[in-house]
Amino acid sequence: MDFKKLMRPHLKNVRPYVPGKPIEELRRERNFTGEIAKLASNENPYPPVREVIDAITAELGQLNRYPNSGSYYLCADLAEFLGVEPGRIFVGNGSNEIIDLLARAFINPTDEIVYPFPSFIVYPIVAQLMGVKAVEVPLVDYRLDLAAMKTAITPRTKIVFICNPNNPTGTYVTKDEVDRFLDGLRSDIIVAFDEAYYEFADAADFPDTIELLKSHPNIITLRTFSKIHSLSGLRVGYSISHPDLVTCLHMVRQPFNVNRIAQAAGRAALRHFDKTKERIGENRAQLEKVRAGLVDLGFEVPPSQTNFLLAVPPEGPGNLTEELMNRGIIVRDMSPFGLAGAMRVSIGTPAENERFLKTMRELIRTR
Ligand SMILES: Cc1ncc(COP(=O)(O)O)c(C=O)c1O
Repeated sequence: MDFKKLMRPHLKNVRPYVPGKPIEELRRERNFTGEIAKLASNENPYPPVREVIDAITAELGQLNRYPNSGSYYLCADLAEFLGVEPGRIFVGNGSNEIIDLLARAFINPTDEIVYPFPSFIVYPIVAQLMGVKAVEVPLVDYRLDLAAMKTAITPRTKIVFICNPNNPTGTYVTKDEVDRFLDGLRSDIIVAFDEAYYEFADAADFPDTIELLKSHPNIITLRTFSKIHSLSGLRVGYSISHPDLVTCLHMVRQPFNVNRIAQAAGRAALRHFDKTKERIGENRAQLEKVRAGLVDLGFEVPPSQTNFLLAVPPEGPGNLTEELMNRGIIVRDMSPFGLAGAMRVSIGTPAENERFLKTMRELIRTR
């Protein structure tokens, strides 16, 4: 039976999301018995803080009950945490779900989606799933070119994704650049600021998109518990937008889209953020150390406002990611992002970062 033949025509060539290789998979595939360092998915190298794990454990006895369907209490806590009205918050099964829901709620067959390239690989996927025209705007010097993105807007544009800081380059766009982009923009275009790495960004001129929402009701800001809060495994993210946009998202989401444990963990993560945020400083120090080490080896490494670095080797395409995997270190090969030969490396524990740099030095010297 050729099920592909039965598929909706525009879905036949969808290229599914390829995640960073899980630790168990590398062990199985290569019979690797040593310790494996996964630096491939921009995860937090540390587990959630003790209090969050306790909140998760406390929830287990209630798993016979469905979760709160609209994540009411987590929305209320987020609203207080961020200083906005609860009606402006929507919680999703990861911020990824919200990207998907935006497309489902708003994209017609003749609409266009504008986004930067290379950037988060889910934007082209949702455009493919909706069967609509994707307008990819190339980065300049590894940075989003917001002026070119504005020029790429046509009467058919419905959603613009602005990944800030950008995955996989780690670079950011400034408040001034964002102001210029929004100035005079049609108000029926939804501008989604994907801020998955927001908490790691410390640049003084990083835009405050929640503040901008007051004057631009067509903005939606996406954030997540997956990165700084160490909850990638639970799938919980959120957005801040106009309350009417929140209503539209609720209309297209599944019932109980965010599980009980994720909601409880998210609430505890906010209560104990003071403890978690101490990790931001370590990330910054380690990131600069890894960056300096890679630059020393001749790599081009854009300055990063995140917990990862893009490393472009001096001599072009090679097989460094494979060689690293043979030595138990998983990084992300950048070929699917149009950057053949480059890699994206997440910041791990100090020991993992040291091991990565030491291995890189050995690999480069023996080339
Ligand atoms: C830019 C960007 N947006 C969104 C996501 C999805 O995050 P979540 O785990 O909240 O779905 C990621 C995950 O890596 C990301 O890099």
